Amino acid sequence: MTEPRVVLEARDLKAGFGSTTVLHGTSLIVREGEVAAVLGLNGAGKSVTMKVLAGLVPVWKGTIMLDGEEIQNVEAEQRVGLGLVSMTQGRQVFPDLSVEQNLRLGAYLSRKRNRRRYGTNLESMYERFPRLAERRKQLAGTMSGGEQAILALARALMAEPKVLLIDEPTAGLAPVVVEGFLETLREINASGLTMLLVEQNVPFALRLAKHAHIMQRGRIVYESEVDSMDHQAMVRYLGIGRLLAPTVAAAGASTNGRAPAKGKARKAPPRKKS
Ligand SMILES: Nc1ncnc2c1ncn2[C@@H]1O[C@H](COP(=O)(O)OP(=O)(O)O)[C@@H](O)[C@H]1O
Ligand SMILES: [Mg+2]
Repeated sequence: MTEPRVVLEARDLKAGFGSTTVLHGTSLIVREGEVAAVLGLNGAGKSVTMKVLAGLVPVWKGTIMLDGEEIQNVEAEQRVGLGLVSMTQGRQVFPDLSVEQNLRLGAYLSRKRNRRRYGTNLESMYERFPRLAERRKQLAGTMSGGEQAILALARALMAEPKVLLIDEPTAGLAPVVVEGFLETLREINASGLTMLLVEQNVPFALRLAKHAHIMQRGRIVYESEVDSMDHQAMVRYLGIGRLLAPTVAAAGASTNGRAPAKGKARKAPPRKKS
């Protein structure tokens, strides 16, 4: 079986702030139709990586390829136009604007290109997320955290991404809301959208991603297909092995449609409430 083609690739990225280097040569690959994840402890450089990819932090050295084109010198707004779209960390929506106004902003660039398609996209977004349709006039700031997450996602989708960059979508969400959001992202991926996901919530990321990169101090120190990930590496780099192992087993055995790798299908013990 041939592997899907590479849609987004970062090669040896170096970037930082002032005299501080944060990315010391970060390389990663995102294949068409897949969810790729970047995992790592707080401060590893995950968000900076996403910002460099989006063009919000300038790159010092290295190459970013989108669909075979070098884009490291392309303006942030143009990158959105080329299909590299971010859902921001913190799921920011414009709280004082209505749901529909938020969606319009997401479609700002594509609307300039094709007004008729904007209407079609808006309707298909409302079909996919009926909760947003019911609330199209409601101010975004008055919605629940889960609804705002969906709105932030829908707004990003309005820009017609080729690759969606998602930074910490679960931060601050209640567990039950996280479950629902995971399902939503799965459906969107199943409908063909490629994603690069950054998460500190490792179990969440592993239930969604096909390929995982682990980042430590500005470098990708380990990468693997999620189904064949080495637990020792996760213990070493993420420092959460004992806690994680049963959860990973559960993730491997979950309904993500992939057979769990050997030795991963242990049953998870009941999780303690913290
Ligand atoms: N705007 C900034 N100015 C200076 N340093 C920053 C800035 N943003 C991030 N950093 C530093 O870069 C490092 C990586 O940060 P970040 O990518 O946000 O980590 P994380 O992996 O938790 O997302 C941290 O040491 C952080 O302090
Ligand atoms: Mg971050």
